[in-house]
Amino acid sequence: MSGSPHARILGVGAYRPRRVVPNSEVVEAIESSDEWIQQRSGIRERRFASEDETVVAMSAEAARGALAQAGLQASDLDCVVVATVSHFLQTPSAAALIAHEIGAGAPAAFDISAACAGFCHGVAIASDMIRGGSAKNVLVVGVERLSDITSPRDRGTAFIFADGAGAVVVGPSTEPDISPVVWGSDGAQSDLIRQNTDWRDAVNAADGEMPHLVMEGAAVFRWASFEMAKVAQETLTKAGLTVEDLDLFIPHQANDRITSAMARAMKLPERVRIARDIAVQGNTSAASVPLALARMIETGEAKSGDRALLIAFGAGLAYAAQVVTVP
Ligand SMILES: CC(C)(COP(=O)(O)OP(=O)(O)OC[C@H]1O[C@@H](n2cnc3c(N)ncnc32)[C@H](O)[C@@H]1OP(=O)(O)O)[C@@H](O)C(=O)NCCC(=O)NCCS
Repeated sequence: MSGSPHARILGVGAYRPRRVVPNSEVVEAIESSDEWIQQRSGIRERRFASEDETVVAMSAEAARGALAQAGLQASDLDCVVVATVSHFLQTPSAAALIAHEIGAGAPAAFDISAACAGFCHGVAIASDMIRGGSAKNVLVVGVERLSDITSPRDRGTAFIFADGAGAVVVGPSTEPDISPVVWGSDGAQSDLIRQNTDWRDAVNAADGEMPHLVMEGAAVFRWASFEMAKVAQETLTKAGLTVEDLDLFIPHQANDRITSAMARAMKLPERVRIARDIAVQGNTSAASVPLALARMIETGEAKSGDRALLIAFGAGLAYAAQVVTVP
């Protein structure tokens, strides 16, 4: 199969867990308040998955939505890429299970581990596969059940992390509807967001405690606000664009103050619409960018043909960004 000159997002889908968890439900265990959480993070409520809302079930729903918008069948997929850090089996991959669940024949299927940056890594990989000729239609899913690995008593994370799934179908295009990616990592700062203990130690400790995420919030905040604005700028330059060419800015929904700091540093024009999905969704790591994109399409804030800058960043530290056209 020869490659396509370019790639584009053909459809977007979302799954938001049923259970809405307002700040009032999380404040007691961390001696916090609704006002503090809203002021420091922009979060009013988030959603936590119930038992039946598994990584596979949530992803399959999001995938069906993306396929429907793309006008494709699951059998049209050549590859399924899943970004997640909360599929709790080393093997089989979530991707293989999701591909089977949606009836996708026998596509290539694999997971990627790049935490909050995972979805934008997946879009970059899908675009390169389509241009390289190794796939025509690729499903990229970002999915998390972070409530499973968040301690309700950890003051720095309990109010931030949440659950959900978002998906896109990426396919061929004659126009540059997905720009070159700008991505990278900084393992020297890997301690800033991490799992508190590895699974083997947790099992050996036999105290029944799940490992959970820990974070140096202030240091992450500084890194994200300053370094990621530079990455966003570099992404525009690589795409041959400026902020004047953008309609939408859809950063990883880490913290609304980080989003605002990046928008200020980039001098985004007022008319560029900015994703603020975190207010009702919390920080859903790999799922946050596709969930925010899906919401903007649902509300009419994002229109077909709009140009959106996506940027995702987090544990690793890892980051990835690209400019895409809204389907
Ligand atoms: C987590 C975060 C909101 C904390 O805000 P912060 O201003 O850095 O908070 P600090 O840890 O410096 O603490 C400031 C004060 O708030 C208090 N505090 C900390 N957590 C609190 C909580 N959950 N509720 C109420 N008060 C809290 C501290 O005790 C401290 O009080 P003091 O000034 O009297 O000593 C912020 O660091 C952040 O958003 N970081 C990035 C998070 C992120 O994006 N993570 C995901 C990346 S993918």
